[in-house]
Amino acid sequence: MIDIHSHFFPRISEAEARAVDAARAPWLAVGADGRSGQIMLGERPFRPVHDALWDPAARVRTLDQTGVALQIVCATPVMFGYGWEASRAADWATRMNEKAAQYCAGHPTRLAWMAQVPLQDVSLACAEVTRARERGAVGVQIGNHVGAKDLDHPDLVDFLAFCAESDIPVFVHPWDMMGGAERMRKWMLPWLVAMPAETQLGMLSLILSGALARLPTTLRICFAHGGGSFAYTLGRVDNAWQHRDIVRSDCPELPSSYARRLATDSAVFDRGALRLLADVMGIERVMLGTDAPFPLGEQEPGSLVRSCEFFDAAAQQRILHDNARAFFGLDALASEDVKG
Ligand code: CO
Repeated sequence: MIDIHSHFFPRISEAEARAVDAARAPWLAVGADGRSGQIMLGERPFRPVHDALWDPAARVRTLDQTGVALQIVCATPVMFGYGWEASRAADWATRMNEKAAQYCAGHPTRLAWMAQVPLQDVSLACAEVTRARERGAVGVQIGNHVGAKDLDHPDLVDFLAFCAESDIPVFVHPWDMMGGAERMRKWMLPWLVAMPAETQLGMLSLILSGALARLPTTLRICFAHGGGSFAYTLGRVDNAWQHRDIVRSDCPELPSSYARRLATDSAVFDRGALRLLADVMGIERVMLGTDAPFPLGEQEPGSLVRSCEFFDAAAQQRILHDNARAFFGLDALASEDVKG
């Protein structure tokens, strides 16, 4: 199995974080046992975590236990730094990407990484993704928005065009969720309601703006959490496109016709949802993603896919392995390594 959606959070010292942004830059407090820790924002605990997040040996032990051959790690979204002054965020991204490269370096056949970029500045983001690609990144993870800029904003479209031209796969992760502070204060509602909506907003921004129609078809772009609310509500979007000219105005074709330009991971936790997702996206565009090592991830990687008896063995193999090889060009990367 190849797991395309997992996170790491490196050992960032309090001093390193303070030098960037004393209140908002994240750092890692590791407990006395060395295995438990806390992601901190300034003085404030953000999230309790455990050692697989920062310790690659602990991570590989979990891969051995769960039968994952290769796991692609990327930043925990709290590391993005999109709200900081751009040059500072660019320097931060370079350092985080170096930590990602080092995290994977001792286990090159088991761990791979996606870069992060200072997405608030397109030229700096393009420079960093180019540098990271040369350093060995298999793709780039971006948040689904930068403040009020969604994926249809010209800056973000320019970045996606650059990735398409540079043959760099893009993974879009929801973050900075809408409505969290006001109306979703309890029960993890930002993760359960707003996150799927953020992902759908990213996908619809690309489609309904016409940006996806204009972007090169070589763009490889994958959305987290099964695309959030996208697949289930696509019929509603198509219906609106057919009956309201304001929905059609920038989008030349039926919205659902663009689904086959996009990919998603498989993190939907329900067989019916996964079946629908594969119907909408196409079986060749859904890839195993566990969201490890967080509690909202799939605890037994691949168990949902394998429980779907309506997928034959070849279809399961596609979701669990083959689609990721193709999407991330892993065979090409491996052969480049062999060539030295
Ligand atoms: Co995630």
